[in-house]
Amino acid sequence: MHVVPIASLAAALALAGSALAADAGSKRPNVVIIMSDDQDRLLGSMDYMPVLQKELMGNGVEFENHYGTISNCCPSRASFLRGQAAHSTNITHVRPPGGNYDKWRLAGEDKNYLPHWIKKAGYKAEYVGKFLNGYSQVNYHIPPKGWDHVDALIEPYINDYNNVVMSQNGERPVQYRGFHSNDVTDPLANTKTSIDRLDRLLDAEDPFFLAVMPYAPHVSGDKPPTPQARHADKFPDAKAPRFANWNPSDEIQKTKSVFLKDMKLMDSEAEASADRLFLGRIRAIQGVDEIIEDVLAKLEEKGQLENTYVIFTTDNGYHIGAHRLPGGKALPYIQDTNLPLAVRGPGIPRGVKSKVASAHLDFAPTFLDIMGLDKKEWPEFLDGRSLLEEWKKPVPEAKPEIGSAKEIINIEFWGDKVVEIPEYKGMKLSNNSYKTLRIVSEESSWMFLNWCTNEMELYNITADPWEINNLAYGEVTPEHQRLINRLNSILMVTKSCTKDSCRDPWSALQPPEAQSRVSSLEAAMAPEHDEFYETFPKVHFGRCMQYQDEANEQPFWPPGAENDLGKAHRQPTDNWVSSNKGKPGVKPNAEPAGGPEQRHATMEQLMADTHVLTDDETGPLVPAEED
Ligand SMILES: *[C@@H]1O[C@H](CO)[C@@H](O)[C@H](O)[C@H]1NC(C)=O
Ligand SMILES: *[C@@H]1O[C@H](CO)[C@@H](O)[C@H](O)[C@H]1NC(C)=O
Ligand SMILES: *[C@@H]1O[C@H](CO)[C@@H](O)[C@H](O)[C@H]1NC(C)=O
Repeated sequence: MHVVPIASLAAALALAGSALAADAGSKRPNVVIIMSDDQDRLLGSMDYMPVLQKELMGNGVEFENHYGTISNCCPSRASFLRGQAAHSTNITHVRPPGGNYDKWRLAGEDKNYLPHWIKKAGYKAEYVGKFLNGYSQVNYHIPPKGWDHVDALIEPYINDYNNVVMSQNGERPVQYRGFHSNDVTDPLANTKTSIDRLDRLLDAEDPFFLAVMPYAPHVSGDKPPTPQARHADKFPDAKAPRFANWNPSDEIQKTKSVFLKDMKLMDSEAEASADRLFLGRIRAIQGVDEIIEDVLAKLEEKGQLENTYVIFTTDNGYHIGAHRLPGGKALPYIQDTNLPLAVRGPGIPRGVKSKVASAHLDFAPTFLDIMGLDKKEWPEFLDGRSLLEEWKKPVPEAKPEIGSAKEIINIEFWGDKVVEIPEYKGMKLSNNSYKTLRIVSEESSWMFLNWCTNEMELYNITADPWEINNLAYGEVTPEHQRLINRLNSILMVTKSCTKDSCRDPWSALQPPEAQSRVSSLEAAMAPEHDEFYETFPKVHFGRCMQYQDEANEQPFWPPGAENDLGKAHRQPTDNWVSSNKGKPGVKPNAEPAGGPEQRHATMEQLMADTHVLTDDETGPLVPAEED
């Protein structure tokens, strides 16, 4: 304890719990982020996570308006790791031509991303669990760059919770026989040395960043995720919630676009399958809640709980039964894009909810802010902004104007999507490319969507949170047309924004007749600007493509924006080829793992029956590149 002179008591109170404690000798705060896979905010899965509820939301802030700007694992993680929109990383899918681990490497994006910056700030940077799709048994020896330690689940094993194969720092893959993926991803268990990983980090001199990325509750192929055996019978009566967009009538469905308008009504079998998927998910995330519990307990034991930001989120959202789709992600709608986010840590109030709008690409700048990295050292290409102030003061003191820069969320996608229940046999839905804009405001909230077929959708989220009543369908009222004209112009900017134009799209949208700066949707709605927005270029796709092609997405705003798209900070990847991840060479556990006795398995138990994969079992490796 340091002594606080009475005179500065007020200042000390203001600083109490703040990141940079008064004591100059104190260690800078650690950061632990736990990111689940394909979880949801709006299907209620978090209600089944008591530790998350009590310890992170109860002792921290829950953010209700956090978004993933691309609803797919690999692109969303790439966006998180680079602090950029997907149109800037051009990692836009989990497979070619959109992206995967191979494309990320070939583009050289792995030479300049989060862990490199974290280390510049003087932190240790470690990663455990799922990395980018395509990190596999044939390229494990080219491990993710930048981390002081990385231990990643590898393909083709990753989606089998009972066949846990991981590569540590690019070493030969190890199979943890008899264990469940969630239990091996727990950072208390995860290390080959006999000292627990988190223990070692906590005992070290440097502050640290640790990313814990469990695979749950991702589907296992087209089957629901397999929970740990100790959770396999929980919540027998739970069913997927039926919100207003659940399996809608023909009358509603026909107002949707692309493949959606032709989706058939889910029959009782598909509904039952959707319920089984929901059940598998809430059982599988019990293991994620345990990870949160273990991390917090260890931080507390080491006296570092109050000096660590603990963040919980997921990579992208999920729908079950929405718009007649029994299960999956990749849609532009609210359930696929609005994500869980809870944060506790130094200076973060306890038990508060925040409505501030934010996105995954804001994490990187927020972390650099927490770590105190000199702004001059920040990468110049970040599209996001630091949220640290808003994390600490979650209730906005002044209400922003409707549609101000901070309320604008860009959401995008390229390529097909898959239906994730066995009854639909991995049904692939093509033409799932789109540009989406959300105005996330307490007073007035909108979703505007332009599909690659140039069909449009508009939802008044204030009145219609489940996006049922498409106001752009059929005859559009003059009032809604005026609104569409404004939203189109903002979308014209956000679809290709970089850096400041992402942080403030209005900077590129000033009507020449404006007497004062137009910096909100509210201000832009003034009738004197009707002509400017009416004659503004329209968002347009030439056709539906599987990847981001500038010629296909003309026009751009401001003109020439297509030359940016983050290209100066990555290598061209035309005609890149993905390595073939091969077939599983080792068998899964004979019995489902994760019984109660494995809840706190010791390192000795975890290591008791490991197997190092042979060349025969992995198949031939891809050639390692020169760096
Ligand atoms: C949007 O919905 C709200 C709430 O029902 C309503 O008050 C408002 O008039 C609607 N706005 C438009 C432009 O339709
Ligand atoms: C996809 O969109 C193209 C237009 O780009 C159209 O010709 C084609 O029929 C669409 N396919 C499906 C399955 O909707
Ligand atoms: C995105 O990636 C695809 C596939 O590699 C490539 O053809 C395309 O040119 C890239 N687009 C941009 C804008 O870099």
